[in-house]
Amino acid sequence: MRTVSVTDDLHEYLRSRRTLVDRYLDSEIRPGEGCPPRLWEAMRYSLLAGGKRLRPILVLMACEVAGGQDKQALPAAAAVEAIHTYSLIHDDLPAMDNDDLRRGKPTCHKVYGEALAILAGDALLTLAFGIVSASYPPRTAAACCTELARGAGAAGMVGGQVEDLACEQLPGTLDALKNLHARKTGALFRASLQLGVWAAQGERSGGPDPALGRALDAYARCFGMIFQITDDLIDVESSAEKTGKHTQKDASRGKLTFPRFLGTGESRRVATDLAKEAEECLQPLGERAAKLDALIQYILTRDC
Ligand code: IPE
Ligand code: IPE
Ligand code: MG
Ligand code: MG
Ligand code: MG
Repeated sequence: MRTVSVTDDLHEYLRSRRTLVDRYLDSEIRPGEGCPPRLWEAMRYSLLAGGKRLRPILVLMACEVAGGQDKQALPAAAAVEAIHTYSLIHDDLPAMDNDDLRRGKPTCHKVYGEALAILAGDALLTLAFGIVSASYPPRTAAACCTELARGAGAAGMVGGQVEDLACEQLPGTLDALKNLHARKTGALFRASLQLGVWAAQGERSGGPDPALGRALDAYARCFGMIFQITDDLIDVESSAEKTGKHTQKDASRGKLTFPRFLGTGESRRVATDLAKEAEECLQPLGERAAKLDALIQYILTRDC
């Protein structure tokens, strides 16, 4: 099925999608009247600092697979990136991972102080719901809000972050580790794929195609797990120059990670098996899912 090579074609595709997302975030997203300028500056500092933009790109890709256009997907794409950026700002705080480098720049709290960084994160989270509710007709807007709330909330990303911190003090089990990764990282990827489907098909009579939603959700579950396994491997094997964030930090903090649990070789093998499973999830979608298929190889072999 793979017609897009993992090298030049996909890299070029990702570059152009990143540019599209960056331009939209820069030019279309506004905080609303009354936002203190310093708060907006802190929000934009982190939001426009770069980043791979994988979640918004997945929204665009899912929308395309579902027969939609970029302009339908962009508000949802911006919303999920706003939530992801908020999660990074908070993840880097002293009370959490205590990091001073993110996306190649000093972390938000290092530049703006902890209080403003917390509030910039809060405002980005709220902005995401404002964007989708203002950009789509009621049914699609409501569904997008539900997906975002599920992905980002207490049973999703935030719940996973709570477990991630709790596990610093515990021996942990492989099941606990999988569960934690599925929530802290996987839940927002699952939401991204569903947002793309809703953006494209939300207003169809009867709503989105359930079989498409299921296939992409099964893919997203694998994607999220591979993504966090490779994030954990990157912490062990890569460098701040490549990643724009400090590495070799998980072990010193006692984080429950795949490399700590299984070693790097076995972790990579688990990720490779999940990549095969992800490809199988796309089989029913045929050629239209070729780029999603290629993206799996990209995240499996990434070093940043
Ligand atoms: C980092 O996410 C946080 C995790 C969920 C592992 P990314 O690696 O997608 O970060 P950016 O957006 O590219 O900076
Ligand atoms: C963070 O996971 C996941 C989030 C929800 C932000 P990590 O703590 O491993 O992410 P990095 O390595 O700091 O980017
Ligand atoms: Mg963390
Ligand atoms: Mg961290
Ligand atoms: Mg990490």
